[in-house]
Amino acid sequence: MCIPPFIRLIVKSSKTKPTKPNEAARPIGVFDSGIGGLTVVAALRELLPGESIFYIGDTARVPYGGKSQATIERYSVELAGLLLAERAKCIVVACNTASALGVPQLKLDLRVPVTGVIEPGAQAAVKATRSGKIGVIGTRATVNSRAYERAIEELDSELEVFSEACPLFVPLIEEGWIEDAVTDSVIARYLEKMLQHDVDTLVLGCTHYPLLRAAIQRFVGPKITLVDSAQNTALAVQKLLKQYKLTAPKKSVGKLQVALTDQSTGFLRVAEQALDLQVGDVLLRTVQK
Ligand code: DGL
Repeated sequence: MCIPPFIRLIVKSSKTKPTKPNEAARPIGVFDSGIGGLTVVAALRELLPGESIFYIGDTARVPYGGKSQATIERYSVELAGLLLAERAKCIVVACNTASALGVPQLKLDLRVPVTGVIEPGAQAAVKATRSGKIGVIGTRATVNSRAYERAIEELDSELEVFSEACPLFVPLIEEGWIEDAVTDSVIARYLEKMLQHDVDTLVLGCTHYPLLRAAIQRFVGPKITLVDSAQNTALAVQKLLKQYKLTAPKKSVGKLQVALTDQSTGFLRVAEQALDLQVGDVLLRTVQK
């Protein structure tokens, strides 16, 4: 895997340095391929207002969904290295694609705790279903990895899972086409087949998709429950911080810092409003192509 030397150094030293007492005051590091991971950030801010968050959206290389495992692993290690350079005390992979394909490598490489969004999403689905038929939508890479099938089966092997890749959703969302006739017809095209499976629960298996929640719900109708990973991921992070004694000191007020790997798009501001987040000034971080 071709990782720049300074990132390799940071990742390596994170594996060898002992935990320091002030580590709990450090930010939670969160990354996604773009702005979709802000849906997870919104849930983290709500549950853990005392925690600071450093978020990196890899807007220079979005979307990840059609890329190979080797590429997604390389991107994940590089972004985690950038977050460790910001003194992140743990890493939250707020991207289903990178969770499915990059988290195993990160768990091997990093000393800080790492969590993805697949297991939390699977838990939400298992809790919500009554009929035992669950639909999962995500990027092509996430769907091909069958990570949701495995995670759901581990929780309850009786459940049936039907998956559908929706590769055009991420570019439409990054473009800001949230309420748009073109997006509505793409939703209809991808989800028609899903309706025939008679699922009662649909997992939004990509952290971008909650931004299309209203449009998707309109198409599938009120009888299908839409679930996503955001809240359960926030709960998993809360547990992780307690387990590693990394919870921010009492009374601390958490800050949110957002960095992108390419210039900020106008849609960041739309997402900021939709998710009720205060993003403020956006930093720029450089990644390899
Ligand atoms: N938010 C990412 C995910 O959850 C989008 C992946 C992509 O960039 O295609 O999978």
